[in-house]
Amino acid sequence: MTGARMLGLGVYRPARLVTNDEIAARVDTSHEWIRSRTGIVTRRIADDEETTAVMGAVAAEKALASAGLTADSIDLVIAASCTSPSQIPGVGPQIAHRVGALRAGAFDLNGGCAGFSYAISTAADMVRGGGVRHVLVVATERLSDYTDWDDRSTCILLADGAGATVVGASDTDEIGPAVWGHDGSRHEAIQVPGGGDNLFRMSGQSVFRWAISLVPAVREVCERAGVAPEQLAGIVPHQANLRIVEALATGIGATNAAVARDVVDSGNTSAASIPLGLARLLDAGEIRRGDPVLLFGFGAGLTYCGQVVRCP
Ligand code: ACO
Repeated sequence: MTGARMLGLGVYRPARLVTNDEIAARVDTSHEWIRSRTGIVTRRIADDEETTAVMGAVAAEKALASAGLTADSIDLVIAASCTSPSQIPGVGPQIAHRVGALRAGAFDLNGGCAGFSYAISTAADMVRGGGVRHVLVVATERLSDYTDWDDRSTCILLADGAGATVVGASDTDEIGPAVWGHDGSRHEAIQVPGGGDNLFRMSGQSVFRWAISLVPAVREVCERAGVAPEQLAGIVPHQANLRIVEALATGIGATNAAVARDVVDSGNTSAASIPLGLARLLDAGEIRRGDPVLLFGFGAGLTYCGQVVRCP
């Protein structure tokens, strides 16, 4: 086998739903402003027990079940997260332990909001290289830990959740070439500065303009995969803002694709947003197993990464 594909999918959404009105009770904003500028109506916020490790492990167990695999078949766990509660240890080994992937290697990958796309391409290349057969990729985020609940420009957006997949060997290659890039000159546009300041800061408007300018990169994802935009069954951009999601989908002419709009219900969950968006399209029957779907992450760094995959 020389190819790689996504074999299953699992997600975790925290139980607690927070409405725009609840946010508006704390900061000077309104349901209508948030809905019209971001598309967000509700978001999920984790409770104390729903740590990145707990949420990630639940999503991982669901992904294993959906792939028809047990944890002992996993060779490697990659955790995509930028909200690990500690600098060290990473969350990857904790998830591996919780799911019982006892012989697996485990590490964290911080690709910001593009983390899931970076992680599945890393996993796919490892599988194609032949060194591993099954890689559990888990994106898990608790942005609420880093949210300044008095900053109306960011607290309206950020949320918590997790999503996971298993990348495994396949006769056919069903994870297309990654298209990625960065603009490190704008690294200050999104940051958790550290050094005593552990709150998320963002220059919203400049990130918005940069995200919209990525249409040519999204088109290149299709070109590299040999799939015309109108052949896509689905498109799952990072769920940062519904206006960005729709601009990217429209910008490439993905006329027949179901567009992930999970941000409306789940807010912005950084690396977890792509598997959460993909799962919602699948659960709603808007896409099916085997369909070609474009994934495209972008955010902190600034970085981006995308690929066309066959839906697990
Ligand atoms: N309620 C009411 N007014 C607000 C709010 C709010 N919650 N937030 C900002 N405003 C005000 C501003 O103060 C400003 O007022 P002013 O004109 O009097 O100065 C006005 O609204 C317009 O502000 P903008 O920042 O221009 O608003 P914009 O339409 O750009 O929306 C937003 C802000 C939602 C943050 C948007 O810029 C955005 O989504 N940016 C991209 C975010 C993103 O893609 N992040 C990606 C990665 S980060 C991650 O995913 C973890």
